[in-house]
Amino acid sequence: MSSNNARTAIVTGASKGLGAGVAKALAETGAAVVVNYRGDAAGAERVVADITGKGGRAIAVQADVAGRDDVRRLFDRAREAYGPVDVLVNNAGVATFTPLSGITEEQFQRTMATNLLGTILSTQALAAQDDIDSASIINVSTAGTVTHPAYAALYVASKSAVNAFTVVAAKELGPRGIRVNAIMPGPSDTEGTRTMGYAGSEQQGQDIAATPLGRTGTPDDYGPLVAFLASEDARWITGDVILASGGLR
Ligand SMILES: NC(=O)c1ccc[n+]([C@@H]2O[C@H](COP(=O)([O-])OP(=O)(O)OC[C@H]3O[C@@H](n4cnc5c(N)ncnc54)[C@H](OP(=O)(O)O)[C@@H]3O)[C@@H](O)[C@H]2O)c1
Repeated sequence: MSSNNARTAIVTGASKGLGAGVAKALAETGAAVVVNYRGDAAGAERVVADITGKGGRAIAVQADVAGRDDVRRLFDRAREAYGPVDVLVNNAGVATFTPLSGITEEQFQRTMATNLLGTILSTQALAAQDDIDSASIINVSTAGTVTHPAYAALYVASKSAVNAFTVVAAKELGPRGIRVNAIMPGPSDTEGTRTMGYAGSEQQGQDIAATPLGRTGTPDDYGPLVAFLASEDARWITGDVILASGGLR
């Protein structure tokens, strides 16, 4: 994997699922990692223990990415522990699947606040550091912005906004050496999708049949890609939104 030695990374929503896989991969490539979580302190501490048990550097920091004060505190804690933050993975997200007629204002606020506002606030906090001369931001979108599945209107709309935000932010932050990219994961086996009853469902069977590589993703599938995008090896890549879905499109 690419090297991220001497980098300080924040991975939002890393107490489980894709974020946990990404946090471990970044630590394996040398980054000091801040494992952000909202409510699952035990999950975050397990991820930290996994990393430090292998000789890596990590701490867990609670913060709700949808709140500016929390995000400021998250960055302050990261900087106190490891210095300026030069890798940010905006992974914290909620997936809302509901028929169009059932979308509520509460679901709208929660989904947009976590997926879009959280990405914006964290990106602002990274860019507000005046002591970095390069950085890499990786936003976690979804392959759903390409496949447009039924019952995912709100979720896909929020992540399509993240894709658009990625491209615009890359233009504004490029002159400061800050790269901004997004990945679009395919359906993956995580605590989140298990809670939704995805594993073993008819939908999972249909997705696997439509996936050229013939399986569901795992958290381990995304770590190497994010580690690459974070690293100097990806120095010429910004404003890109990359499909990582086993070919599902
Ligand atoms: N799994 C998939 O099939 C799939 C496919 C495409 C894209 N994605 C995207 O990948 C990301 C991770 O998905 P996942 O399946 O791994 O989810 P997950 O298993 O449900 O885990 C979600 C993580 O996000 C954190 N989180 C949620 N709201 C937060 C907030 N307001 N502030 C801080 N952290 C918050 C949770 O923290 P706590 O548990 O500590 O509260 C948890 O660590 C999401 O952005 C999702 O949209 C997932």
